[in-house]
Order: sequence, then structure tokens, then C-alpha cells
Amino acid sequence: MNYRKLGRTGLKVSPLCLGTMQWGWTADEETAFQVMDAFVEGGGNFLDTADIYSSWVKGNPGGVSEEIIGRWIKARGNRHQIVLATKLRGSMGPGPNDQGLSRKHIIDAVEASLRRLQTDYIDLYQSHYADESTPIEETLRAFDDLQRAGKIRYAGASNYDAWQLVESLWKAETYHTLRYDTLQPFYNLAGRSEFEQGLKAICEKYGIGVIPYSPLAGGFLTGKYDRDKLPESERAESVKKRYTNEAGWLMLDAVRSIATETESSLTAVSLAWLLAQSVITAPIIGANTVEQLQSNLTAVELKLSPAQLSRLDEVSDWKKS
Ligand SMILES: NC(=O)c1ccc[n+]([C@@H]2O[C@H](COP(=O)([O-])OP(=O)(O)OC[C@H]3O[C@@H](n4cnc5c(N)ncnc54)[C@H](OP(=O)(O)O)[C@@H]3O)[C@@H](O)[C@H]2O)c1
Repeated sequence: MNYRKLGRTGLKVSPLCLGTMQWGWTADEETAFQVMDAFVEGGGNFLDTADIYSSWVKGNPGGVSEEIIGRWIKARGNRHQIVLATKLRGSMGPGPNDQGLSRKHIIDAVEASLRRLQTDYIDLYQSHYADESTPIEETLRAFDDLQRAGKIRYAGASNYDAWQLVESLWKAETYHTLRYDTLQPFYNLAGRSEFEQGLKAICEKYGIGVIPYSPLAGGFLTGKYDRDKLPESERAESVKKRYTNEAGWLMLDAVRSIATETESSLTAVSLAWLLAQSVITAPIIGANTVEQLQSNLTAVELKLSPAQLSRLDEVSDWKKS
């Protein structure tokens, strides 16, 4: 694999990041270990999790994905090989300070994540989404202190609006603190507007590494959803609601025809479109099984021609609709 620089930083990451929201939800611990092993064997070094994963599952308190990763890293003894990213912001308890981006919650949350991950540093610590009740300079100062204390190496944001991202850069400069070096936005062929409307230009201008989530639109872009074939799974209902419409089917037709031309898969074509964009560092894939992971990894070798990229750009262009 050709490793890529994470934005302007000197950190090198694999071009695909393995997301782990599914550990303890749609994939059990044994499968999680197999998928992480296969990812590392395939050259991957970049893992993404969050403290709240997967607290939406009944009986699951949150922190489960981090705990599974912690046990895997300990069992494999490979902490130094892994670029480990996690996030905080969501609610981890009933108290008013068990969530948010205040100094208090940041310091509590990092200690809890370090314990669950069985490590003494986090490579990339991310604000899962903005906290409008906390001044951004308080958040950045707390992250800065964690960086100086060696508990985190870099900081990033996720789900920020364009103005919030710019404000964070401006305040970091004003207060001489660390800044967000990455953005984790929702972005895929079937959902481009959110990122492209304002965030993309900011990331390009300021050298922010972009690590988009849901690069396969929750599975829609793999080809297993079709006009007359709709799968049933834990995630299928939300995928159907969001993507199964005429524009989505037309786009999938274009992806399928390019997959045939390139003798690859819809999965590989959809990921290769993302990988071909200079603003993107590493899409975060959410494989549930080793088979899904292997199919996703083939995208790294697939180079689409300029004409094929233009066809995909055109059929998924949100400005036309
Ligand atoms: N920052 C945030 O707010 C945020 C939000 C969401 C996700 N994330 C991060 O991004 C990661 C990925 O997000 P995502 O799960 O939405 O990504 P995704 O890649 O768009 O969707 C993953 C789902 O697609 C299906 N799939 C994946 N590869 C496949 C293949 N080769 N063949 C067939 N089906 C395949 C699986 O679902 P089925 O098998 O159930 O069909 C899998 O759970 C998460 O794990 C998490 O780390 C972050």
C-alpha cells in the first residue's frame, strides 16, 4: 500500500481507514479480531473508533468498540504499528458533564478511552460533533494540554459545519493552540453536497486531512441494493430510506457499467472515485466481515480513467438536482 500524509502533518496512514462502529453491534468480537487482522495483513495501519460506539444497541453502555480494540492490540502486541483514532462528545453517562467538549469532559473522556484502549496515547483525538455550549478556545486549549502531556498526538473534528471549522482555525491561531488537522465528514458518491458545499474548499486551502465516513453509503454503493432486490439487515432500513430513489438507481447504473468495464466491483469503483480526489486522505470503511474487507481493499489498486471519473462526477452531481 502507498501510505498517505494525514493532511499537513507528517503522519503516514494507509489510504483506507478501518471504521469500527460495528464492533459489538453488527460484528461480534471474534469477527472484529479477524477483520482487524486481515486489515493489517493487507497493509492497513489506520483504525477509527469513538467512545460512544455502540451505545445505541440495547444493553450496550458505549465504549464497547474501544474495549474490543484494546483487547486486540494487547493480544497482538502491535500498538506501535497502528494509527489509532477515537472521538468524544456524545453522552457517556447521565450527568451534565458526561458529554460535550468542555475541559472537564475532555479530560475525563480521554482517561476513560485510554483505559478501554489499553494504551497511553491516542494518535488522533476527534471532536465527534460540535458543542455550541462550550467556547471553541476552551476545547482547543484542553486538546493542546493533552498533546503536551503526550496523551494525544493530533486532533481532528467530525461533523463540523463550514463556519465552525473556520472558527476553530481562526481561534487556534489567535490563542496559539493546536488546531484540528483532520475532518471526518459524511461523504460518498450518493451524498456529496454536505461536504462539497463549503467544507471541501476549506480543507483544500488549509491542508486539513479528510477522512470521510460512510464511503459506501452504508452498503448502498456495493450493488447489493437493486430496484428489485432490497436486502434485510440491521442497517438496511436507514439505507433504503436515504438512498433508494430514481437518482440513486441511475447513479448505481453508472457505477455498475464502470465496474464491468474495469472488471472490478461496484464497491471498488465507489471507493476508487473517493480515493482519486486529491482532497481525500483515507475513506473510513465499515466492513462487517473479512469478505467485505477484502472486497473493499481491492479499491486501492483500481485507477479510474479521467473519462470514467467525469461520468461518475456527472451522474452524482448534486448541483443539477
Ligand atoms: N463521525 C461520524 O459521525 C461517523 C458516522 C458514521 C460512521 N463513522 C465511522 O465510519 C465508519 C464507516 O461508516 P459506515 O459503516 O457508514 O461505512 P460504509 O462503508 O458506507 O457502510 C458499511 C456497511 O456497508 C456494508 N458493506 C461494507 N462493505 C461491503 C462489501 N464489500 N460488500 C457488501 N456490503 C458491504 C456493511 O453493511 P451490511 O453488511 O449490514 O449491509 C457495512 O456495515 C464507521 O465504522 C465509523 O468508524 C463515523
